[in-house]
Amino acid sequence: MPRFPKCDLVSIDDLTIAEIEQIFERAADFAAALERGDRLALAEGLIMATLFYEPSTRTRLSFESAMHRLGGSVISSADMHSSSAAKGETLADTVRVVSAYADLLVVRHPNDGAARVAAEYASVPVINAGDGSREHPTQTLCDLYILQRKKGRLEGLTVAICGDLKYGRTVHSLIYALARFGANIVTVPYGGMALPDYVLERVAAERRYKLSTLTIDELKSQSGGLDALYLTPSAPHQMALFTGDDPLARVPTARPPAALDAFYVTRLQRERLNGGGADGQDYVHFDARALRSTRAQGAVVMHPLPRTDELAYELDNDPRAVYFEQAAAGVPVRMALIAWMLEGARRAARPEPAQPLVRFKTGSTPRCPNALCITRHESAYLTPRFRLAHNAGRAVLGLRCEFCERELKVEYVGHASSRRYYHFDENLYGYVRRWIEDGTLAVFETVKEAEEQGYEPYRRGPQREIMNAAEIAHACQAISTQIAADSAEPTALVVVGVVSRGAILAMRVCEALAPIMNFRPPCAAVDVYADDPVLRRIDGATDNLCVDGREVVLVDDVINSGWTVQRAMTALWRHGRPAAVKLAVLIDRGHRALPIRPNYIGRSIPTARGERVSVRLAPGDTGDAQKGVDRVVIYSLLEPHVASEQAP
Ligand code: NCD
Repeated sequence: MPRFPKCDLVSIDDLTIAEIEQIFERAADFAAALERGDRLALAEGLIMATLFYEPSTRTRLSFESAMHRLGGSVISSADMHSSSAAKGETLADTVRVVSAYADLLVVRHPNDGAARVAAEYASVPVINAGDGSREHPTQTLCDLYILQRKKGRLEGLTVAICGDLKYGRTVHSLIYALARFGANIVTVPYGGMALPDYVLERVAAERRYKLSTLTIDELKSQSGGLDALYLTPSAPHQMALFTGDDPLARVPTARPPAALDAFYVTRLQRERLNGGGADGQDYVHFDARALRSTRAQGAVVMHPLPRTDELAYELDNDPRAVYFEQAAAGVPVRMALIAWMLEGARRAARPEPAQPLVRFKTGSTPRCPNALCITRHESAYLTPRFRLAHNAGRAVLGLRCEFCERELKVEYVGHASSRRYYHFDENLYGYVRRWIEDGTLAVFETVKEAEEQGYEPYRRGPQREIMNAAEIAHACQAISTQIAADSAEPTALVVVGVVSRGAILAMRVCEALAPIMNFRPPCAAVDVYADDPVLRRIDGATDNLCVDGREVVLVDDVINSGWTVQRAMTALWRHGRPAAVKLAVLIDRGHRALPIRPNYIGRSIPTARGERVSVRLAPGDTGDAQKGVDRVVIYSLLEPHVASEQAP
């Protein structure tokens, strides 16, 4: 029995142009065979499994139809909510298990980068049927197949892509492919839904495409095509035009296109908005008027479907409306893909990405900034992976997630052997590359995080003590007295400290509150830098801390921007619904980036931006016993560029 070689389709870029063309030739043959009613047995004895963690009509059914038409069979978990995924099984476990039941997996998943994970863990080939807002390569095959049949070529075509370009995964795969075929791409995004930077950068870097942003008027006068496109004038649509200057592109087009060959309209991906963002009020509405201008008359109208309100039904009978043909092509094109994977897919070695994988010091791998990245959802077994992003002339270190391609912008870097941290600066780039090779790079979101992990600033100016042990003890006492005075119901109080020094202060506050209120409030700590910050009791009690309806006093040592407090609040809210939250800090040093004002302040110390306030506290709930250790000092940080020649 034939077997599929392990060859996955995660991104449209996994296929070369020649391979795409082979698949199209094969698809045309299969379309003819289907027309004739031929019985095929190419995939006889083989089983395809479709694992869909998101709804689907076209993609799943056309894949299943394609496999049946090839004589193979299908097992399907069309709704993963009825599978073990609903019991919390990880994607990796599911695909490993199903690899033993099927010869080929087709996976759709709501998280960005999920297809790569599935491909890595499955022992049989995996086809990406849509991973979050990232890619949908087989839809692109259907789109290009129909476009090529309608226009006779792909090279040099001008395609206007309209709607939700931010979350539309079909759009992203289509753009990568069109760029390689040397097409001109006009992007017409709905307000706020422009192409994400990572897509633009990939097209620009890999294909050397130029992106110019044009106003509607410029576009009208240059290309003439888009005066036809009906957009409500209130929407701040920002259009862009890509033209290839890639010598490898077959028909490089430096001039603005004279006419449009296709409109690719997409729906607003409401399911990815997560309650925020666009309301769709003035979303693109495409109707017959769009095709009236002379420059758009020859254009076909495409849509990956399903449509909502963006595409008028009046277009359906226009021969230029080809969206149902795109959907119908799903069967022969996916048959051709399966056949190609079965027979031909001996992939030539692809070039390794230019940038090396970043090795971090063990245990200090940062998390991906994209909340929808698969690494954020399957963290039990999946360690985030990053490559260096293009960094020239930037004040942050860009790290690109290997799974979802989003960029993590790192402001503070550390060298694990010397235990020094630095505010990243272009001069450090060479060092950082070396630390990556040695596996000694650490990265931090904030100075506080670096210091929590025991890193010292690279260089600092002279220190000045601003609070001694007695003053700290006095401040804790004063804060506790005020908390007790404000508290209408002392037994409703809960004290939560931010790890680590906020937690020490929280214990001291509880200790001071006990004699004043004749009640010792429960005390917990929250580690805001943990992947999943939870409240952990630090008062020796073992029962679960309940914050519902309680008055929570959040305690931290220093408040600066307010980000730490904001994270602690998020963790608190995930734990329960307190009746009120108050904030107590030992030092308020100003420079807030968020509208947060502490209720209780030990001391307000206006500081300059380059200064650091460092609080040292003896562990434990009594400051008295180790008075010598407790102190607050202030010093100025010397940025590495001040003395870059002396960096290690
Ligand atoms: C698309 C998808 O799921 O990304 N649908 C499809 O597969 N044809 C487009 C969409 O849902 O908008």
